[in-house]
Amino acid sequence: MTADELYKKLHSIQPGAVLCNYSMERVEQMLPIVNEINELKRERNAVILAHSYVAPEIILTVADFDGDSFKLSQDATKVQADTIVFAAVRFMGETAKILNPTKNVLIPGPLTGCSLADSITGDEVRALREKYPNHTFACYINTTADVKAECDVCVTSSNVMKIVSSLENDKIVFVPDRLMGQNLQKEMDKRGIKKEIVLHSGCCYVHEQYDPDMINFFRSQNPGLKVVSHPECHPGVALLSDYVGSTGQMVSYIKEQPEKTPFLLLTECGLNARMQYEFPNKSFIGSCSMCKYMKSNSLENILETLRHPEKAQSIQLDEDIRVKAKRCIDAMFDYAAR
Ligand code: 13P
Ligand code: SF4
Repeated sequence: MTADELYKKLHSIQPGAVLCNYSMERVEQMLPIVNEINELKRERNAVILAHSYVAPEIILTVADFDGDSFKLSQDATKVQADTIVFAAVRFMGETAKILNPTKNVLIPGPLTGCSLADSITGDEVRALREKYPNHTFACYINTTADVKAECDVCVTSSNVMKIVSSLENDKIVFVPDRLMGQNLQKEMDKRGIKKEIVLHSGCCYVHEQYDPDMINFFRSQNPGLKVVSHPECHPGVALLSDYVGSTGQMVSYIKEQPEKTPFLLLTECGLNARMQYEFPNKSFIGSCSMCKYMKSNSLENILETLRHPEKAQSIQLDEDIRVKAKRCIDAMFDYAAR
């Protein structure tokens, strides 16, 4: 890709975030880094997986696979290369390692956490298991391998409703996202599916910021506005949204809407940015919230990871935990395919 081509795409991004103000000078600085990354990927037999929330230049120039957490976990099963550089957060890297124990899985960003994955430990799930011995335990993919190892099935934002509603047991413990769990319970009640869901207290610090009053204000200012939100948002936000779904599902929804439709995207800035260059004839209004963990990935630290993989953060898992966690992820693949 030439500097002109890259600048044309990146320059159309204006989500009001400092990190997304692209000048030609910045794009010209990026290109030698991009070229070295792509060369090192070949030399080291490495691939890059990137979540939609990372900086757009990563997705546009060096990522081999990109998308939402479900798609990336499926992509991780298809990788042939010896090394996976996962531009996202630690729990996604762990998922790739669980599925690819012999590969080297490296995380380039220094902030590898996630407010959801950090909100519950394996010990806490074990304590819940004692309290609810007859419940089926479903966990969001935004959890550590330790937590997955203690649960029966894992879900992502794209399949949570499908999987939980098809579980045989009517008593479910769902961890750790309280707001996603509340959205799930409301949707089940609406569809007449009777299940009792015990929730935990975790929240995504990015998505919990959105509030329903803001939606009413933007609607009053923008006729024809389509509000699209992530299921990690508050149920009041979901109720006022035209569409609620995973990042990948949001992209499909936006794609289907007529040209010139204005959208309010209630999710992380990366998706906003991506939509602006993928759909230049649609408009994306409002500011967005940034995930500090996802945005700690950069072209510079991806390059450093590939230059010195021995110094990079490499995911290591206890084999017993990995095998148990894999059962939980395989159960998700199985339910999702039904
Ligand atoms: P997706 O499943 O939509 O990729 O979401 C992952 C995530 O971390 C949302 O905050
Ligand atoms: Fe975690 Fe929220 Fe960041 Fe997603 S956006 S990685 S849920 S903190």
